[in-house]
Amino acid sequence: MGRGNIFFVGMMGAGKTTLGKAVADRLGRVFIDTDRVLVERTGVPVATIFEIEGEDGFRRRESSVLAEFAAGDDQVVATGGGIVIVADNRRVMRESGTVVYLRARLERLWERTRDDATRPLLATADPRGRLAELLQAREPLYRAAAHVVVETGSQSASTLLPRVVAAIAAYESERGGEA
Ligand code: S3P
Repeated sequence: MGRGNIFFVGMMGAGKTTLGKAVADRLGRVFIDTDRVLVERTGVPVATIFEIEGEDGFRRRESSVLAEFAAGDDQVVATGGGIVIVADNRRVMRESGTVVYLRARLERLWERTRDDATRPLLATADPRGRLAELLQAREPLYRAAAHVVVETGSQSASTLLPRVVAAIAAYESERGGEA
């Protein structure tokens, strides 16, 4: 039997991709980034998918990519910040492995996203306000999706890595003990 998958959820700018990659390397697992898969398959940036198909179209594609990889095993999957909006996505992730919420404060998320024009949801007159709204609306959804919550501050990925790996191991051994 395989080890199941590890999913990283959290807001834009939380560091899911960087940390997900580092965890995959450390644990010897395949790394998947759902946004990246969508970009590779469609041949256009995320913003263009939003432009042509709307957020609904993007979410449908995102859910289908998630379901596809959740059916696999032994992967670390970094998801897009909005994946938890869809209840079925939360269920799919929880059933397929361990879900880690990388939690960061608004200030930190803003620092990490303010100079990046690739995120269509922040292409508004008040991107910081938008980020705050999204964080508030999604916080309960990230918590509902997650088995493990990791608080991130201004630490680098290399500092966070051992903490995240230990938190996942602790959760998985506890869960294994219950089975
Ligand atoms: C989104 C986050 C993005 C990307 C898309 C929508 C969101 O991914 O999926 O722009 O709804 O928060 P990242 O969280 O990797 O930036």
